Amino acid sequence: MALQACYLPSPLLARKEGKVKETAFLGASVFEHHKSGLHVPLLRSKRGVNASVGVVKAQTTAVAAPGLNQASLQGKKVLRKGVVVVTGASSGLGLATAKALAETGKWHVIMACRDFLKAEKAAQSAGMAKESYTVMHLDLASLDSVRQFVHNFRQSERPLDVLVCNAAIYRPTARTPTYTADGYEMSVGVNHLGHFLLANLLLEDLKKSDYPSRRLIILGSITGNTNTLAGNVPPKAGLGDLRGLAGGLNGRNSSAMIDGGDFDGAKAYKDSKICNMLTMQEFHRRFHEETGITFASLYPGCIATTGLFREHIPLFRLLFPPFQRFITKGFVSEEESGKRLAQVVSDPSLVKSGVYWSWNKDSASFENQLSQEASDTAKARKLWEVSEKLVGLA
Ligand SMILES: NC(=O)c1ccc[n+]([C@@H]2O[C@H](COP(=O)([O-])OP(=O)(O)OC[C@H]3O[C@@H](n4cnc5c(N)ncnc54)[C@H](OP(=O)(O)O)[C@@H]3O)[C@@H](O)[C@H]2O)c1
Repeated sequence: MALQACYLPSPLLARKEGKVKETAFLGASVFEHHKSGLHVPLLRSKRGVNASVGVVKAQTTAVAAPGLNQASLQGKKVLRKGVVVVTGASSGLGLATAKALAETGKWHVIMACRDFLKAEKAAQSAGMAKESYTVMHLDLASLDSVRQFVHNFRQSERPLDVLVCNAAIYRPTARTPTYTADGYEMSVGVNHLGHFLLANLLLEDLKKSDYPSRRLIILGSITGNTNTLAGNVPPKAGLGDLRGLAGGLNGRNSSAMIDGGDFDGAKAYKDSKICNMLTMQEFHRRFHEETGITFASLYPGCIATTGLFREHIPLFRLLFPPFQRFITKGFVSEEESGKRLAQVVSDPSLVKSGVYWSWNKDSASFENQLSQEASDTAKARKLWEVSEKLVGLA
C-alpha cells in the first residue's frame, strides 16, 4: 500500500553528518567590479567538480567569473536584492520558503504558480510585503506554459540569481494515469519534465546573472531513495531501463510508467523524485565547472501538513501528521522546512555544488548519501538525453 511521500525521522536517515556554520548571509549582495574583466573580486570561487569553497574563502580568490555580463564590469558598487524564482510557491514548502526569503528584505521572490489568484492570496495571508514578491503564471503540466513563463520572465528584465524547482503533485490513490497537455503521465510530466525544460531554459539567465552565488535547486525526496527505510516502503521507486519514458510515457504505445510497468500513482511520484535528483547531478556534471553555478537537491524533512497529501484518503490525512510528530518524530513544520530551503537558496555554507542536503534532529544540515540508483551517472545521462527529446530540446 502506498503509505506516504515521506516517512522517517531524519536521525535514521543520516549516513554522515557535516557540521554547519550558522551565518547571517541571506541574500544581501554587495560586490565590487573592477574595470578589468580579468581581476574581478567577486564572491565567487574557481569551483572544481567537488569544490566546497564557502563565500568568505572565495572572496580572496580573484577570478574572471563565467557568465559575467558587460554591465557588471562598469566599476560600480552594486547593492540589490537577489531574485529567486520558486515554482509552486502558492502553498506548503514553496510558500514558506518564499515568506522566509522575502522577510529578510534581501530577496525578491518570483512566485511561479499555476493558480494566480491562489498564489496572490497565499502571499497576502502569509503577510509577505507587496514589494517583496511577484506572482507569475506557470503551469508545469504544459510545456507551452513553461516556455511562455520564460518569455514573460525575460520581458520583466529582472536578473535571475536562483531557481528553485519545488512544485510537485503526488497521486497516491490514483488507479489510472492522467496526462499533461503534451501527453505525458502527470506526476513525471509536472515534477520532472516541466522542471527539466524550465531549468534548461533558465540556465541561460542564471549564467548572465552577476550575483555572487547563483544556484539551481531541485527538490528531491527520501521516498525516491531506496537506501532509507522510507524508500523501501512499497511501491519502491525504480526507473528500470527507462523504456516507458523513452516510449513517450503516454499510456498508449508505451507504458505511463518510466520503467514500462503498470501504472501506480505513488510509484510515479517516487520515480519523478529520482528523476529530480539525477537531473540535479547531471546539471552539476555538465555545467558547474563551466559556469560556477551551484546545483543542489534536498530532502526538507517530512512536512506532513502540506497540500502534497491532498489526494490521499481522509483517514491518512488525519493520522499522518500526529504519526510523524509523535511516533517517528520526523515531523517538520512548514515554517521550519521553509527555513531549510531558504538556507539552500542563500546560505554561503551550503554553496557546494552537486549535493543532496538533509537536516538532522537538531536542524543542522548535512550532505546526505543518495541511493545507488539516484546517483547512477549512466542513468542520469540517459534520463537527460531522453528528457531532452520529450521536451523538444533535442
Ligand atoms: N511534504 C513533504 O513531506 C515533502 C517531503 C519531501 C519532499 N517534498 C517536496 O517538496 C516540494 C513541495 O511540496 P509540498 O509538500 O509543499 O506540497 P504542496 O503544498 O502540495 O505544494 C506543491 C506546489 O506545487 C504546485 N503545483 C502542482 N502542480 C503544478 C503545476 N502543474 N504547475 C505549477 N505548479 C504546480 C501546487 O500548486 P497549487 O497550489 O495550485 O496546487 C503547489 O503550490 C515537492 O517537490 C515535494 O516533492 C515534500
